[in-house]
Order: sequence, then structure tokens, then C-alpha cells
Amino acid sequence: MKILIKNGRIIDPDTKRDEIADLYLEDGVIKKVQKSVKEKADEVIDASGCYVMPGLIDMHVHLRDPGLTHKEDVESGAKAAAKGGFTTIVAMPNTRPVIDEPTRVQYVQNKAASCAPIHVLQAGAITKGQKGEELADIKGMIEAGIPAVSEDGKSVMNSRLYRDAMKIAVEYDIPVLAHCEDINMAAGGCMNDDEVAEKFGLPGISNAAEDIIIARDIFLAFETGCRLHLCHCSTSDSELMVRGAKAKGLKITAEVCPHHFTLTSEDMVKGDTNYKMNPPLRTRKDVEALKKGLKEDTFDVISTDHAPHAMEEKAGSMQKAPFGIVGLETCVALVISELVKPGVITPMQMAEKMSYNPAKILKVDGGSLAVGKPADVVIIDPDKTYVINARTFVSKGKNTPFNGRKVSGEVAATICGGRIVYRREEK
Ligand code: DOR
Ligand code: ZN
Ligand code: ZN
Repeated sequence: MKILIKNGRIIDPDTKRDEIADLYLEDGVIKKVQKSVKEKADEVIDASGCYVMPGLIDMHVHLRDPGLTHKEDVESGAKAAAKGGFTTIVAMPNTRPVIDEPTRVQYVQNKAASCAPIHVLQAGAITKGQKGEELADIKGMIEAGIPAVSEDGKSVMNSRLYRDAMKIAVEYDIPVLAHCEDINMAAGGCMNDDEVAEKFGLPGISNAAEDIIIARDIFLAFETGCRLHLCHCSTSDSELMVRGAKAKGLKITAEVCPHHFTLTSEDMVKGDTNYKMNPPLRTRKDVEALKKGLKEDTFDVISTDHAPHAMEEKAGSMQKAPFGIVGLETCVALVISELVKPGVITPMQMAEKMSYNPAKILKVDGGSLAVGKPADVVIIDPDKTYVINARTFVSKGKNTPFNGRKVSGEVAATICGGRIVYRREEK
């Protein structure tokens, strides 16, 4: 398959290219990037007015497979990702059973090979069954191909055990993707601990529940030399701590999710569980700090924490409903509307945080539009405005607080391994 993408704005952090040019792909590889390519192609895509970036990489996705496939499965999640512009995703291991040994890693890999249009990587759990009691078979899972370990959904509260896991991660040079939440501090909470929670009469989760564990994880990373990656940072002090740790030379990286830089607890609609996620929506002060951190590159990554749940599950009360919202099909629009258009980050920083940096952290061959690299590419129409409609989501999950929101920025096409895996309908 030969694909020629014409007249797009090529934005590539790897080669530092930001210019209008043509991109020519052949046999799954980037063959030419230049002002005007004359090659004959099977498919010619006019990308005038669009960004052409390396395929997006989402380091934080819940695919719910095995065991909770009524919420999502490898195929539906990977297709939703392709629609969202992603060519690689990392699936978190908090499935049923938990992915804590090599055969379970292989299950997801085999399923992805048979039905996923994009690259699906599976992360391994840190402790058996995510019980926090004994280490999972981390070495076995590394041999099976996990790019990272994570206890996402909770923190490993036993610091000694966690440090042992970090030492294994150092030995094999993989990152630890950290969900930072003190289980006792957060217990029973269902939203941010602030005046809105008081008004709603709901139990809160304070910033300290997150900040205490971020601080601990940073100290453990100092002690072990582990490549620590902080998931879904939501507090103003997370920005301060990550900046401080980087200034001291720590190999730390950190991510922010679109809901945390877009919404505050004041945006919550009483009783609407689509605003319930973990960590919760914080305050204006926190959002401003997250934006500052994204602008100044304290935060390296934008990930979705795509967390699909069934309608019936989310139909319960704020206290009973599960935490989480879907994110794969709204991420690009929120990044462009909330960060790029208002000038918080440049399109180049968007490509860094959504592709180049994740590729580096995960050590995957991607995140680049250099000649010879895999033909994983996304074409984004930044000026297309529309209203988000959850019913059009490919994901099985429709749980989003962004339904009905007017946004700019639409994925026009996603190309993975030289194949067009998603193309928007031309109206
Ligand atoms: O909102 C969340 N949903 N946060 C998590 O940490 C877990 C996730 C899930 O698995 O649903
Ligand atoms: Zn988490
Ligand atoms: Zn998560």
C-alpha cells in the first residue's frame, strides 16, 4: 500500500520539522517527507489545513479485557482509539482476572493481533491480584513483552514491597506507571474535598490523598533510580513536586488527563456520575497549575485514562457508581480546544506530549515522522468545530461529562503500519 498525504502541516518533534509538506508512505514505512512528492500512490489524502503528526500514543487506557467485556473489549477499545487518532495504546492490568502473569499478557496480545487495528501494549500488575501483598511475576511478564508495570486503580501501599518492584523495573529498564492515592485518606470519597462537595453533601477526596503518595513515590524513585511515571496528576502541588524532582535530576515523567485540565468541581452537575472519576475534578487553582506545568513541560504526557463503564453501573448514586470516564474519542478535541487554540501549548508540544514522549518512555518505535520510521500517522483538522455526541462513540462506554460540548479539532484519518485504520466521513 502506497499512501501520499499532501499539503499537510507536518509537525514532528523528532526531526523538529514544522512546515507544510507532503508525506509518502510505502510498505508500512515513512519513505519521503518533502515539499512536493511526485510518487504515484494507491491512496492520496489531501491534508490541506490539517496537522500531520506521528500517530498518537495513549499510555493509559482501560480495555476491561478479560472479564469485564460488557464495558469494553480489546477490539472495541482499539477501534475507539483509532478513531481518536491513536496508533498505540497501553492497556492497564486492572481486569478480571488481574493481568499479573505472562499467560494473561499473552491473552491480550493474541487478541489484539487478531482484531485490533492499532498497536495494543499490555502493562503488567505490580502485585498478585493487585492485592498489595506479594509481587506479581514481573520478570515473566517482561519476557512476555510488557512495556511497563502499574497497579493502576490503586497504589501499592506497602512501600517496602513497592521498592522491591521498582528495583526489578530498574534492572529491566521499564517504567513504573504510578496511580497515586493513599487508600485510607481517600476511603469513602467520591469527589474533590471542597465547598462543592459540602454543598452536595458528598464525602470528599483531598489533594493530600494524592500528594502524599506522589511525594513517597518520588523518594522511592530517588532511592532506587527507577523510571517513575506519575499517572493522572490532578493537584497544584503535583506540579510543584514534579518540577522539584526534575530540578534535582530525577528520571521522573508525569501525565495529565484532559478532564483534569478542562473541568473543575464547580462544573459538576449534581447527581451526574459522568463527573465521577479518580482522581476527582479539582479546583480552578489546580487546573491553572496543571496548565502551567503543561506549558512549561513539567508534564511530559497527555493521556486519557479511558475508563469505560456500562450505563447501568453509572446509573447509580454518586457514592455507589464506579469511578471513571471514557476519553479516547474526545482527547484530541479537548487538547486543541483547551490547550492549543488558547495558546497554552503549541502544536509541536501537543505532538511531544501525545506521541514523541510516550514513545520514549515506553521505548517503542514510534512518535516520529522521520524517513525509515513506521508509517504510524495521524491527520487532525484543528479548525473543524462540532458538538460532542456520546452516541456516536465507537467505545462501548458512553460515560462522558463532555456530551453536548462544543469543541474544535477532529481526527481526519489515522494510519497505522501503513494502513488507513480510521477515516472520518466526508460530509
Ligand atoms: O477513574 C478511574 N477509573 N480511575 C482509576 O484509577 C481507575 C479507573 C477504572 O479502572 O475505572
Ligand atoms: Zn489511576
Ligand atoms: Zn486508570
